[in-house]
Amino acid sequence: MSKLSVRDLSLTGKRVLLRVDFNVPTEERDGHTHITDDTRIKESLPTIQFLREAGAKVIIMAHFGRPKATVNLKYTLRPVALHLSHLIDAPVAFATDCVGAVPAAIIAGMHNGDVAVLENVRFHAGEEANDEAFAKELAALGDVFVNDAFGAAHRAHASTAGIAHHLPQAAMGLLMAKELQYLQGELSAPAKPFVVILGGSKVSDKIGVIKALMEKANTFLIGGAMAYTFFRALGIPTGKSRVEADKVDLAKEILALAESKGVRFLLPVDNLETQEISATAQPRPTGLVSPAKGISDDWEAVDIGPETIERYRHEIAGAKTVLWNGPVGIFELAPFASGTRAIAEALVASHAVTIIGGGDSVTAVKQFGLGDKVSFCSTGGGASLELIEGKVLPGVAALTDKA
Ligand code: 3PG
Repeated sequence: MSKLSVRDLSLTGKRVLLRVDFNVPTEERDGHTHITDDTRIKESLPTIQFLREAGAKVIIMAHFGRPKATVNLKYTLRPVALHLSHLIDAPVAFATDCVGAVPAAIIAGMHNGDVAVLENVRFHAGEEANDEAFAKELAALGDVFVNDAFGAAHRAHASTAGIAHHLPQAAMGLLMAKELQYLQGELSAPAKPFVVILGGSKVSDKIGVIKALMEKANTFLIGGAMAYTFFRALGIPTGKSRVEADKVDLAKEILALAESKGVRFLLPVDNLETQEISATAQPRPTGLVSPAKGISDDWEAVDIGPETIERYRHEIAGAKTVLWNGPVGIFELAPFASGTRAIAEALVASHAVTIIGGGDSVTAVKQFGLGDKVSFCSTGGGASLELIEGKVLPGVAALTDKA
């Protein structure tokens, strides 16, 4: 059943408790915390501005890092609140606690359209325990709940799920709706051919996604270190490449499953290999691999090779829906980034619905300056994988059903 949307609410004068995912990467420089990628904050702006324009008092709840239920100012949301105030070009009040008298006093002084950010909900043990009393304390600060924190929707925590049961209405925000539209809507009956590109280091991280998509995909294109566990399963030499030795049988099972279902499961036919992981390394192509010739002894595969790039490009060009999760090489280092860049460019060139399912592949596409040239980039990491696997996300399930 579809969920209530923020657009369905009457908002003027209401205290809206808005859960967002402001868990952004930061670095310490010159004694200050700098946000190195504010995508998640920017993606929350449509909902924040929608609420402000509707005359709501916008009370933002979020987590930041994993402070383990203690007040640790390394994980304060204050720099994020400051950044938000620059982005919306308006003052943003900051409450040094997320429950009790401190936020209550700030909220009491808010006018319609004002914005406040509450301190990290994970400073309290009740958050991750989804403690009912803590959820009630949060709920006491507002009139309605709006959840826009797609990236945290796979967590059954007090501010993502528990709170929804203590307010009369719990609705999804505009980002949450967009994430569900692409990762659930578009992928429930994808236009075919449906091509799934999977990379990253571990088969074990992607097994749920592979099994779920085996029912829908026409073709899988595999890259990243996870490919070499499949190489091992096929008896192709892997040199010093990362292999999950305890997942080789699982890899064999997946290959057999794909064959029995008539799903094409393509592995790299060639690779780049190196003896040094560094920004100045000079990797060499392996040539076409076979059980007789794979990755060289003492060398490690770090990217897909030129022939694989051509074949994968061709598959993407013929697709109507493409889902990509996980880089196909160590793209963070320029000498090993060409495969991941070529995949990103192939998505941009294609006429398909192109969905990037969060995590490192989104980082890669943004690094190449192509983030706004695909149909959709998810802000979720674990949440997008769980949704694609078909799991119920507690942060979505808790929202009010649309009548
Ligand atoms: C994320 O960064 O993926 C989300 O904000 C969830 O964070 P968590 O893994 O610490 O729960």
